[in-house]
Amino acid sequence: MSKIPCLDLKRQHDSLKAEIFAAFEKVYEKTAFSGGPFVEQFENEFAAFCGTKSAIGVNNGTSALHLAMLALGIGPGDEVIIPANTFIATAWGVSHAGATPVFVDCTSDTWQIDVAKIEAKITPKTKAIIGVHLYGQPCDVGALMELAGKHDLFFVEDAAQAQGATYNGTNVGGFGEMACFSFYPGKNLGACGEAGGITTNTEKYNTHLRSLRNHGSVVRYYHDEIGYNMRMGGLEGASLSVKLKYLAGWNNRRREIAKRYQAEIKQPKITLQAQPEWANSIYHLFVVTCNEKDNFVKHLEDNNISPAFHYPVPCHLQKAYAHLGYKEGDFPNSEYLAKHCVSLPMFAELTDEEVSKVIAVINAY
Ligand SMILES: Cc1ncc(COP(=O)(O)O)c(C=O)c1O
Repeated sequence: MSKIPCLDLKRQHDSLKAEIFAAFEKVYEKTAFSGGPFVEQFENEFAAFCGTKSAIGVNNGTSALHLAMLALGIGPGDEVIIPANTFIATAWGVSHAGATPVFVDCTSDTWQIDVAKIEAKITPKTKAIIGVHLYGQPCDVGALMELAGKHDLFFVEDAAQAQGATYNGTNVGGFGEMACFSFYPGKNLGACGEAGGITTNTEKYNTHLRSLRNHGSVVRYYHDEIGYNMRMGGLEGASLSVKLKYLAGWNNRRREIAKRYQAEIKQPKITLQAQPEWANSIYHLFVVTCNEKDNFVKHLEDNNISPAFHYPVPCHLQKAYAHLGYKEGDFPNSEYLAKHCVSLPMFAELTDEEVSKVIAVINAY
């Protein structure tokens, strides 16, 4: 058996090549390369998929977070609460708007933001909480929304890794004021190119976001505010419409693989992410921890399995945020995770034989 990668995009794209190229041809014929009908079609389909009133396509997930902050009126002098254990782009959205990210540790078992530790971080400057559905697992939406309501804060979902995940049976994307998605190629729903999106049930955000992403303009060449060029491309939109039809099937296959990992990995040296009853994860990533990470990784690699690491440095210890004055020891759970995390192979096209091999190799460690 050849090497088992953590993620293999080629398998999915080989199987969809004819269909995606046919969609590209339509975009090409109409020269609808920036925004346009193919983006609009995907926006409608994705809003229906999430069960939200609107979806706004943008050029990537980082822009989605940035624009969500702007649409909420968040800017310099404001603070936004986010988990220390997330991909750094959650924080970029806040920083790009001129506000300050305020980090909170994760729990020791779900590895999601620890709701019990948020209240101590709320100040008169706090404007919002961003809940991240990390690794494809919905965070504790109910508790976060309750806290946001109690302190009159906005709640925004970072659903970049969670297209199709459900919280208590409802698709993520419609819980907060807005939800931000990434359609980076490696995501469960990934474009052939860079792309992102925002879902919302609130018309004023929908209208404002459409203007912000398009040079602050509703009527061409009339600019109501300082805007951005953050439109989604037509080729990206067309590829996403093709792939959206397969997403539920892919997510179910990932769940099937995750179930096997959860049931069949019998290795006391490995800890799996706890799955709370409210969460139906789409397993964008399958992260485990191991105290002897280096040895474990060597064992996987010696057996032709390529792991990955999400993420090796928590946000509060990134150089980019040194000026905020956080230090090692501030968030022990996030720091532990960063030092000991290993992502196992996880993508819908993994074969049963490959999954069996990963399990056998781990159990033999
Ligand atoms: C949790 C999270 N937030 C935001 C982003 C940003 O998305 P993008 O890479 O499309 O800018 C990503 C993806 O990389 C992510 O994983």
